Amino acid sequence: MIARKPRQGKNTYGDNSYSKRENQRLWSILLLLLTLAVHGVSTDANTEEDGDHSSHNVTSTSTFLNTLLKTYDKRIRPNFDGDPVNVTVDMLISRIDNINEVTMDYGITIVLRQTWVDTRLEYNAVKQHIPPTSELLERIWVPDMFFTNEKDSHFHDQTRDNVLLRISPSGEILYSTRLTLTVACHMQLSRFPMDEQHCKLKMESYSYTVDEPVFVWTDYRPVQHEDDLELQQFDILENETIEIVHMYHTGNFSALELHYTLHRKLGYYIISTFLPSSLLVVLSWVSFWINPEAAPARVALCITTVLTITTMAIAVRDDLPKVSYVTAVDVWMSSCLFFVFGSLVEFAFVNFVSSLRKNEKKKKTDLKINVEKTKDGNDLADAVEKCLPQAINIEKCERCGTHASRYWRKRALFVDKVARIVFPLLYFIFNIMFWPIYLREGMPSWLIND
Ligand SMILES: *[C@@H]1O[C@H](CO)[C@@H](O)[C@H](O)[C@H]1NC(C)=O
Ligand SMILES: *[C@@H]1O[C@H](CO)[C@@H](O)[C@H](O)[C@H]1NC(C)=O
Ligand SMILES: *[C@@H]1O[C@H](CO)[C@@H](O)[C@H](O)[C@H]1NC(C)=O
Ligand SMILES: *[C@@H]1O[C@H](CO)[C@@H](O)[C@H](O)[C@H]1NC(C)=O
Repeated sequence: MIARKPRQGKNTYGDNSYSKRENQRLWSILLLLLTLAVHGVSTDANTEEDGDHSSHNVTSTSTFLNTLLKTYDKRIRPNFDGDPVNVTVDMLISRIDNINEVTMDYGITIVLRQTWVDTRLEYNAVKQHIPPTSELLERIWVPDMFFTNEKDSHFHDQTRDNVLLRISPSGEILYSTRLTLTVACHMQLSRFPMDEQHCKLKMESYSYTVDEPVFVWTDYRPVQHEDDLELQQFDILENETIEIVHMYHTGNFSALELHYTLHRKLGYYIISTFLPSSLLVVLSWVSFWINPEAAPARVALCITTVLTITTMAIAVRDDLPKVSYVTAVDVWMSSCLFFVFGSLVEFAFVNFVSSLRKNEKKKKTDLKINVEKTKDGNDLADAVEKCLPQAINIEKCERCGTHASRYWRKRALFVDKVARIVFPLLYFIFNIMFWPIYLREGMPSWLIND
């Protein structure tokens, strides 16, 4: 049809350009011949396009389907009195997301494909053709697979139900459906956030025991995934497909499992937790370089770091379920807290030591006042009796007071000096122990010798 139109247009144009009757007749004959030729060609093309379905028409196909299903009983599984029917399963993972430590689950969107052979639906490919449809789903037997560790799920129905049912002439049925599931995944968080999680997707037949349908994974690439499948927080390390039989009181049921290992990416936690908390610990060491007399500065510094680390530790815990064991991040945060608290305690000690010097000073002034009082007062004898030993030593005392203050100040400065080395050293040793212990599994293999 489409091929014919432009030719007609051309000819009409030709008609107008000639006025002579003879020519007009000649052209109309030519036009007729052309039209016939083009029509012939286009019918040929149509026949070619239809190919081997040339013998099918709407009436015959629907009659065929009706007769096919007339004798079909969907309650009875294929191969009813013979071997169990093998249901071959494969899936395409289009998305894994919402991996949630608090509720211990994750979201997954898959296209689940099940293939089995139902000899009752065999037909002659030359004579008939069954178009792919989901309408037949209600009319034929389908396996009753369910997801054992699913919490919530839904089918997709935009723009129509995302369901495909294709029946091959050999009676092989492909049933494909797209669904999103929230799947429980028990997580062991003692290494969090250097952890690896082993999540599963479990499928099983709900009512048919293992001698009725048997689920098997396809031999070739049972689990595919979209090229852009990428998790923000995890790397998918490996995956494994397993076929098992579960034994229950009600019988033995065929089941499939997909296991995969998720390795948490550390980047986010380095940036949001480890780096800031390390910097706070380093910041708390600044206090050792501040004069012990500058108490407000040092107290403010130490208290601020302690409070900030505490807040951070609480914020990190918020992302975790209330597990009763200690996670790696807990070890880290409490150590950081321990270190900044340590520098606060160190300051308290240094301050105490320097206050010893102040006490000396105070004593000295008291003494001076006493002596001055006695000089003014009349009852010298009393005063002398009371204060003489001190008064005599007054010069000496002043000297010894200065000496003592120098001594205690030296001590305080020495404590600070030691802290300047000991704190960073201890923190360094802690880091050397912490990281290898917790990173061990995630470390590149060349770093692990055994
Ligand atoms: C459709 O096919 C049936 C049987 O093959 C035939 O009887 C009927 O005439 C065909 N109808 C048309 C419109 O071709
Ligand atoms: C199912 O598979 C098993 C082994 O793969 C085979 O022995 C059995 O014949 C198959 N059953 C059917 C109905 O094809
Ligand atoms: C599963 O593992 C196979 C081979 O180990 C790999 O080709 C495939 O990409 C993996 N699939 C996913 C979803 O990681
Ligand atoms: C389930 O399988 C076990 C071992 O294969 C067998 O002993 C048991 O009888 C089976 N149970 C049923 C109900 O078939």
